[in-house]
Amino acid sequence: MNADGGELDVKRPLPAHLNLDDFLPNVTASNHSTLEPIKLGDTVQAMQGELQIPFPSLPFAGRSQKVKEAIDYLASGGGVEARGAIFTKPEVVEFILDLSNCVATRDLTRLKFLEPSFGGGDFLLPLIKRIFASWREEKGRNPTRKELETSITAFELHKPTFEHTRRVIISLLAQEGLTDTDAEMLASHWLHHDDFLLAPIEDSFDFVLGNPPYVRQELIPPTLLREYRLRFKTLYDRADIYIPFIERSLSLLGPSGTLGFICADRWMKNKYGGPLRKMISDSFHFKVYVDMVNTQAFQTEVVAYPAITIISNDPPSTTKIAKNPTVSKDGFAKLMKQLASDECPSSDHVYTAKDVAVSSQPWLLGGATQIGIIRKLEAEFPILENSGCKVGIGVATGADRAFIADFDKLDVESDRKLRLVRTKDISGGEVNWLGKGVINPFCDSGGLVDLESHPKLKKYLEDRKEIISSRHCAQKNPKNWYRTIDRITPSLLATPKLLIPDIKGQSHIVYDSGLFYPHHNLYYIVSSHWDLRCLQAILMSSLSRAFISIYSTKMRGGFMRFQAQYLRRIRVPAWDQVSGVMRAELCEAAANRDIDACNEAVCKLYDLDIDELISLHESTII
Ligand SMILES: C[S@@+](CC[C@H](N)C(=O)[O-])C[C@H]1O[C@@H](n2cnc3c(N)ncnc32)[C@H](O)[C@@H]1O
Repeated sequence: MNADGGELDVKRPLPAHLNLDDFLPNVTASNHSTLEPIKLGDTVQAMQGELQIPFPSLPFAGRSQKVKEAIDYLASGGGVEARGAIFTKPEVVEFILDLSNCVATRDLTRLKFLEPSFGGGDFLLPLIKRIFASWREEKGRNPTRKELETSITAFELHKPTFEHTRRVIISLLAQEGLTDTDAEMLASHWLHHDDFLLAPIEDSFDFVLGNPPYVRQELIPPTLLREYRLRFKTLYDRADIYIPFIERSLSLLGPSGTLGFICADRWMKNKYGGPLRKMISDSFHFKVYVDMVNTQAFQTEVVAYPAITIISNDPPSTTKIAKNPTVSKDGFAKLMKQLASDECPSSDHVYTAKDVAVSSQPWLLGGATQIGIIRKLEAEFPILENSGCKVGIGVATGADRAFIADFDKLDVESDRKLRLVRTKDISGGEVNWLGKGVINPFCDSGGLVDLESHPKLKKYLEDRKEIISSRHCAQKNPKNWYRTIDRITPSLLATPKLLIPDIKGQSHIVYDSGLFYPHHNLYYIVSSHWDLRCLQAILMSSLSRAFISIYSTKMRGGFMRFQAQYLRRIRVPAWDQVSGVMRAELCEAAANRDIDACNEAVCKLYDLDIDELISLHESTII
C-alpha cells in the first residue's frame, strides 16, 4: 500500500494500445462534488434514446473491451513488494474473527463467508482453519470437498497475488485432510480472480471479512470509475475505493449477517463518507468500533488511520467502542472479554454508546463522557451559522508568486492591492503583519476590472503573463486570464474577523479589527450579531477544541483539522441571550489571551461544571 493507502500499482506506463483519454481522471478537484450518483434501475438520457442503468454486477460477457482492458491493467500491476502491499497482523485478524463471532466453538459448518479482496490470504487462512475445526467439533469428522463448496467466496484482482495465495490455500486444504485433487477443485470453486465491485455474485453471506483496498479515485481508470459510479450510491465526492467495497459487502449480507473489516476510519466523519454513514445508520447495526490509530495493526508501518468496524444486518442499536488496544494475543483476549460482556464496563477506553450513527452526520466516537456533554449542548444551542456568524476561507490565487509580493513594492494602482494576512503573520496569537500584499483584479461590484483603465495593473500582470496564464483556470477561460481562483471581495478586508489556520493542535484564534485580507489556508469568521472578541473567547476555550475534536478526523500527532465544515458545527448561544456581565467577561478573557478565564466564562455561559470541561479537554488529547 502506498502512503495514502493505495493498493494497486498504477504508476506504470499505459499499454500503447489504450487510449490515454480513457485513463485521464474524469473526476477533477473542481467537478467531483457535482457528480450525482445515479441509482440502479434509473433510466437516464443517453446519446441516442434512453439507457437503463444495469444491475449491480457486470458479468464478464457484458463488459466492454475498454472495461476489460482497464481491469487487466489493474490486475497485472507489480508484485506485492513493489506495490508496497500491507498485510494485517495475524493477531489482529484473529481478533476481528472473534469480534465478528466467527469462532470455531460455534457451528460454522453451514455458514457462508465472503472475503472481497483476499491479498495474501491473511483472513482466509485462519478462517479456513476455523471452519475445519468447527466441522470436527460439531460433526466429529472432516468435511468433504462437496460439503465445503459453498462455504467461501473470495476475490482478488491482482493476478500474481491471486495465483500465489491460491497455491498457499491449496496446500493448507491438503494439510487439513483433503486430497490434492479435491484441494485444487475446492480452491477453484472458492477463489475468483475478478473485480469484486463488478463481479456477479448471486449468494448472500453470513460473514464478510477482510481489509478492503484503499485506492484514491485519481488512480482508478475512468472507464472503471464510471462503471462503479453507476452501481454505488456511496461513491460520492472524493470517496476512496474502500467505500463502495463496504457498500457492496453490506448489500451482500444475509439477515443478521456480520461484516468485520479493518480499514481507514476517515469516512466516519468526513464529507465523502456521508452517504455510507446514512446507509448504515438507516438500515444496519454499527456494533463495534475499535480505534487502531497509533497501534501497529499491520505487518509493515504505514501512514493510515485504521479502525476495526463490525456492522451487522440488524436494526440499529448501541455501539461498543474501544480505543488504542494493546496489539498482542493477551491484549486482544482481555479486550474481547470486556467487549463481549453485556455490561460492557464504562471507561473512556471501552464503553457502550447510544446514537453514534445518526444519519449522514459525522459519527461521534469520542469518550463516553465527551459524547454525552456534546449531545446535550447540541440539543440546547444553535450552530454558529444560525447565530449570525459566517465561516469562510481566504483567497487562493493559483499563482502566489505572481499575485503576492511585498505590499510596498507592488507597483499597481493603490486600489488594486490589499494587505494580506497569512498563517505566518498570526503565529504569535495576534496579527503581526509581515508586509505582504495581494493583487486584486476584481471590481468592488464583482467582475474583473478593465485593464485599460488600470495601466499599472495591466503592466504588472502582463509582465507575469506566462505564469498567470499557465494556471488551469486561465486556460479554461483565457479571456479572464488574470482572475484569482477565488473571487476577492474587498469589503471583507475592512470587516472585523477572526482568523483560524487549518491544521493546528491548539485552538489558534486571532482577531483582526478589519485591516487585512485572509490568504487561502486561513479560515475566517465574521458576524453581524456577535461581538468578535466575545466569540474569540468561546473559540479559544476547551469547549470549542472538544467540538472540533469530536467532529473532525484527527491527524497523526494529535493535530485536529480546524476546517470550515467543523467550525460551522460549533454551538453558540444567540447573542441576545448573553448578559452584559458575561459579555464583559468573555471580551476581557479574549483580549488577555487568558485561556483559563475563557474556560471559566464558557462554563458559566453553557452551564457546564469545570469537571465536565476538564473531561472534555482531556478527551481531545490523544
Ligand atoms: C489491503 S489488501 C488486503 C489483503 C487482505 N485482505 C489482508 O488483509 O491482508 C487489498 C487487496 O485488494 C486487492 N484489490 C484491489 N482492488 C480490487 C478489486 N477491485 N477487487 C478485488 N480485489 C482488489 C489488492 O490487489 C490487494 O491484494
